[in-house]
Amino acid sequence: MADEMRHLIGMLLGTEEDWPTAFETLLGRVGPIKDASGTTHHVTVERITMEPFDLRDKPRYDLVVDRLAYWYYLPREWLKKVALMDDVYLLNSPFTFQSMEKHAAYCAMLRLGLKVPQTVLVPHKNPPDNARFAYTAAKYNQPFDLDQIAERIGYPLFMKPYDGGQWIGVSHISNSAELHRAYDQSGQRLMHLQAAVDGFDVFARSLSIGAETMVMKFRPDLPMHDRYAVAHDFLTPAVGDEVLTISRLINAFFRWEFNSCETLVRGTEAHPIDYANASPDVAVTSLHYYFPWAMKALLRWCVFCVVTGRRPQLDLDTRRYFEIGDREDLSYEEKLAGYRKLADEYFEVERYLDFCDSRLAHVDELVFDWVDSPDFDGLLVDTVRSTYPPHEQERFLAHFRGLVGQWVREQAPA
Ligand SMILES: Nc1ncnc2c1ncn2[C@@H]1O[C@H](COP(=O)(O)OP(=O)(O)O)[C@@H](O)[C@H]1O
Ligand SMILES: [Mg+2]
Repeated sequence: MADEMRHLIGMLLGTEEDWPTAFETLLGRVGPIKDASGTTHHVTVERITMEPFDLRDKPRYDLVVDRLAYWYYLPREWLKKVALMDDVYLLNSPFTFQSMEKHAAYCAMLRLGLKVPQTVLVPHKNPPDNARFAYTAAKYNQPFDLDQIAERIGYPLFMKPYDGGQWIGVSHISNSAELHRAYDQSGQRLMHLQAAVDGFDVFARSLSIGAETMVMKFRPDLPMHDRYAVAHDFLTPAVGDEVLTISRLINAFFRWEFNSCETLVRGTEAHPIDYANASPDVAVTSLHYYFPWAMKALLRWCVFCVVTGRRPQLDLDTRRYFEIGDREDLSYEEKLAGYRKLADEYFEVERYLDFCDSRLAHVDELVFDWVDSPDFDGLLVDTVRSTYPPHEQERFLAHFRGLVGQWVREQAPA
């Protein structure tokens, strides 16, 4: 084996500047990493540009962090090429993210026994643009009574796209008039009707990056900068662990390693409602207090993957999960414990933690030093300037400085 190895991480970026700058800065400070065999690894990062590509081209990247493929075809197809042909490590599988819409994810998790609220898929309101549809519909489509479906689910309920994101097309429905208004507006979009988890106690949003997950208290009704509350013991240890297990299960099941998951907790029951977010929000203006954690996790996971040569696993092993889910002799808790084992195995949790301890022990301090420095404050100032109108900048800067300052005070060496 060579004594020195170089690894290049690529980032496919859209409009974000804050976290990519943070990631570049921190990775630049990690320095060479010696593995157990004595080989020294040098890890660097570069922003990827888009251009025509020959399918036989060899990419220069060992790992790619993608924030673009959900929106645009060219990077998406390039990712598939480098995954299939070149074994480039991708944090999220572009294959499952394209094909496993919210709908498919609900189906898989229902089979595994998760408490997904009752959900019905209804045909689109307006016919698709296809000359043959009228014939097919007249011959094969059964008439249905939308009101009856809604009454069976019970009000209030949610109508939302089967493949949704960013709350687009999501409506809260309390009666038949609202139901029909929303359905009429849905046009050609395929919609779910879903029982509302009414009066939930906590909206838990968990951000997962590789083997790490942060379960955060989310307040969806507040403006973006206030949605993540800084709160630590808002779930009992048991429910907190359940939410973490659900997130890790979903991510391992679909091969998603940079994803957020939404779980509504009512009493002691955890109901997952949304868990396919290919470009989870990691802006410093959303995560604030949790931003240093997210950057550290992204840094450690990417370095772990390239330095240990973790193999990308695009093929799914759904059967192993279904074998647990289909058993009638196991309780919900026992099934979760079984899934947790499979998910921990997929993410190599133990090996990862050991790697962080033995090879990346200096990362805590370097992240702390940077977040506590004028350089970080400069990044915050730039981000606030480019995010908010001038008359709001001062207020928001104070707000975020306060929250990040809280993190710094809590992390400061005693
Ligand atoms: N079954 C439900 N019960 C309660 N609230 C819900 C339910 N489904 C959706 N919501 C609310 O609507 C929001 C958007 O729905 P979600 O399924 O997360 O769609 P999106 O993928 O667009 O984020 C959620 O964040 C939540 O506040
Ligand atoms: Mg959502």
